[in-house]
Amino acid sequence: MKKKYIHLVEQTFEFPQNRFSLDENFDLLFENINLKAIAKKYGTPLKITYLNKIGEQIEKSRMWFQNAINRAAFSGTYHYCYCTKSSHFKFVLEEVLSHGAHIETSSAFDMVLIENLRRSGKLNLDKKIICNGYKTAEYLNEIARFLELGYNNLVVVLDNKTELNRLKSLTRKPIKLGIRIASEEEPKFAFYTSRLGIGYKDILPYYKLAIEDDKQVSLQMLHFFINTGIHDTAYYWNELRKALNVYTSLAKVCSSVNDLNIGGGLPIPHSLKFNFEYAEMVNEIVLQIKTHCSDANIQHPDIYTEFGSFTVGESGLTLFKVLKQKQQNDRERWNLIDGSFMTTLPDTWAINKRFILFPLNAWDYEYERVLLGGLTCDSDDYYNSEQHTNAIYLPKLEKEDLYIGFFNTGAYQESLSGYGGIQHCLIPYPKHLLMRKLENGDLDIEVFREAQQSTEMLKTLGYD
Ligand SMILES: Cc1ncc(COP(=O)(O)O)c(C=O)c1O
Repeated sequence: MKKKYIHLVEQTFEFPQNRFSLDENFDLLFENINLKAIAKKYGTPLKITYLNKIGEQIEKSRMWFQNAINRAAFSGTYHYCYCTKSSHFKFVLEEVLSHGAHIETSSAFDMVLIENLRRSGKLNLDKKIICNGYKTAEYLNEIARFLELGYNNLVVVLDNKTELNRLKSLTRKPIKLGIRIASEEEPKFAFYTSRLGIGYKDILPYYKLAIEDDKQVSLQMLHFFINTGIHDTAYYWNELRKALNVYTSLAKVCSSVNDLNIGGGLPIPHSLKFNFEYAEMVNEIVLQIKTHCSDANIQHPDIYTEFGSFTVGESGLTLFKVLKQKQQNDRERWNLIDGSFMTTLPDTWAINKRFILFPLNAWDYEYERVLLGGLTCDSDDYYNSEQHTNAIYLPKLEKEDLYIGFFNTGAYQESLSGYGGIQHCLIPYPKHLLMRKLENGDLDIEVFREAQQSTEMLKTLGYD
């Protein structure tokens, strides 16, 4: 009988695969790194950022787009931007910048962060910065300050029709503009039209009314993003086509418009069964843009993307130890972890998101079906199914401790959980490591932040 955990995995997926394999002791190897050893050495719960992955993703995307451009004989160029909101950490931004990516911002504080990086020599005034998002007074003040400082490649993507006049009242400097198209939402969504951006039909009239004759401003970019992301669905292609209609009609009357920004939304694996054909999808996107523009007799645009999850998601790992098993009835065996899902992986709770999950050891043990519970008192602090199986199977706890890892957790989780702030039930935020594989194959590990201390939380709460 094949009852060991390894057998279950081999029956369910192709294994070993990509970044995952096993060593001779049946411990999991991630990128050839024994994570159990790291979990034991540094303690759990543990967040890890594997820095190498960030640059790899940027280069992969550039390769897919360049190949697609060559294949389609497309005359525009491709530009990779990183959307800071998916992870604002300095080590992420430094990594992204070291690979020459442009930056997309979404708030006033984002601008402060960019200026900090410039002052420390990580970028200069020529860096392309795409200011997206709703512009509060503070955000507009920052944008104006940047223009006054001499940032000369800043593109302000208008989210609504009032932003331009408000910005013009703050600066006399030339302003490069973009416009965000308010896409129509997926049929199953609660609303018809996205609250973000300006409606399709309003864009051309708005350009003629407010931008065309204004010498201070030039329209350069059309921005399009649908929150379901880039997928081979009728909905995606339909929205892209509508965006291209707006782009071509604008380009016919506005010679400065040359950039088409297709936003973020390139997916990442949430299961070993994930099978997204990246290169084919990119080929098709470039081909659609080319065909549409050639048919309309306009120059092919430069293509911009703002991949967030794709850039940082796969760099993140979250490790826990199973503290104890509680059998509540015949069917429910709870493995209680030494952390919280709600606070360290909030997407699992808020939007029912699934991550790749594997035990870090004991793959030669028999498996059993379990539920995974977090440490807070909240009954919703649990994780009970994987995307591919609808259940969780883990090695049966025996003599040794069982460690588990959630993979591809590098995007959005820290900002959504309020990293370093007050956590539910005052469960502390985990220790955070930065890991980098050096060229000689050695592994460099740095403690970025120790686990949150009670003193930090008490101070935030007003206790001295
Ligand atoms: C304007 C814009 N660009 C890019 C992104 C990044 O999306 P993703 O992380 O799915 O790549 C977002 C995410 O909300 C966004 O709103």
